[in-house]
Amino acid sequence: MVMKNLTKNEPVIELLKEKSGYLSGAEIASAMGVTRAAIWKRVNALRKKGFIIDGSPTKGYKLIDSPDLSIEAIKNALSKESLKIGRDIFFYTSLGSTNNVGVELAHKGSREGTVIIADEQRSGKGRLGRTWISPAGKNLYMSILLTPSISPRDATILTLMSAVACCNALIRLLSIPVSIKWPNDLMVNDRKIGGILTEIKADMDKIAYAVIGVGININLDIESLPKEVKVIATSVKRETGKQFSRTTVALEVLREFEKWYEILLMKGKRDILEQWREYSSTIGSKVKVSMGNSVYKGIAEEIDDEGLLIVKLPDGSYMKVDAGDITMIRAGEK
Ligand code: BTN
Repeated sequence: MVMKNLTKNEPVIELLKEKSGYLSGAEIASAMGVTRAAIWKRVNALRKKGFIIDGSPTKGYKLIDSPDLSIEAIKNALSKESLKIGRDIFFYTSLGSTNNVGVELAHKGSREGTVIIADEQRSGKGRLGRTWISPAGKNLYMSILLTPSISPRDATILTLMSAVACCNALIRLLSIPVSIKWPNDLMVNDRKIGGILTEIKADMDKIAYAVIGVGININLDIESLPKEVKVIATSVKRETGKQFSRTTVALEVLREFEKWYEILLMKGKRDILEQWREYSSTIGSKVKVSMGNSVYKGIAEEIDDEGLLIVKLPDGSYMKVDAGDITMIRAGEK
């Protein structure tokens, strides 16, 4: 049952927020109907999540600062902008995967624009069955439920649209050179800063729903990653040398989603494909395409109107790539 995990408001934090000064452990304990020892444990757990709570043996507890991901702030800001995306937001301190919850909510009839955000994912999913490393308190893990009236053949455009939205948001906020590696990798200087995983349920001729999962590394310390990942990954913190607010990134990404989704529905794919090409680090590059057990090398020449990558092979023939995985071949590499 999904809703059981839902952490709407943390009662200790709610109580501390109501008071500008200190609140004693006994007062909090009696308001919540638990022991003072339980409150002490709870406060320590909250500190681990990034809340700064001062504790004094004589005065009690005082909330000094909250972590950089505030769902309240996201909800408040979006409610003033009356957007379709983010009109319902579900927040979890910890869950398996925001995409999985998105799929469950879609089955339960949640409306288009529903957003799921988590502070931590215990089994974050990447493309091609990979794991998406999702530690608590560091990054953005967010899924968006859409129900576009488009053909399943056009599903790739949703991923391209999402990459464009994320790219725009990051460039605007951070002035870092983000590019897109086909179809969904958000890259900075050849290292991956984010990715998109789109999961779709389609009938014969229409998409029933799409859950678009966005993962962006924000305050992640790259040194904390396993050896093989740390050489290919980056984060906002690594690129700028500073911590950044996950709330601000989430808000900007959601606003960009609203904008580009509207463009898709009103005007079709053209503008998205044009903007995607502008951000692409793939087009014009040498690429290696792995499909099943086969590997092909060629030049990525274009993406077609369905978002498929067109690769020119050394014998002059062309192949269209959809579910394959591509690697850029750097100068000097064979
Ligand atoms: C990739 O590049 O492989 C895609 C990564 C997508 C990660 C995000 S994090 C939020 C959402 N929930 C998941 O389990 N995965 C996506």
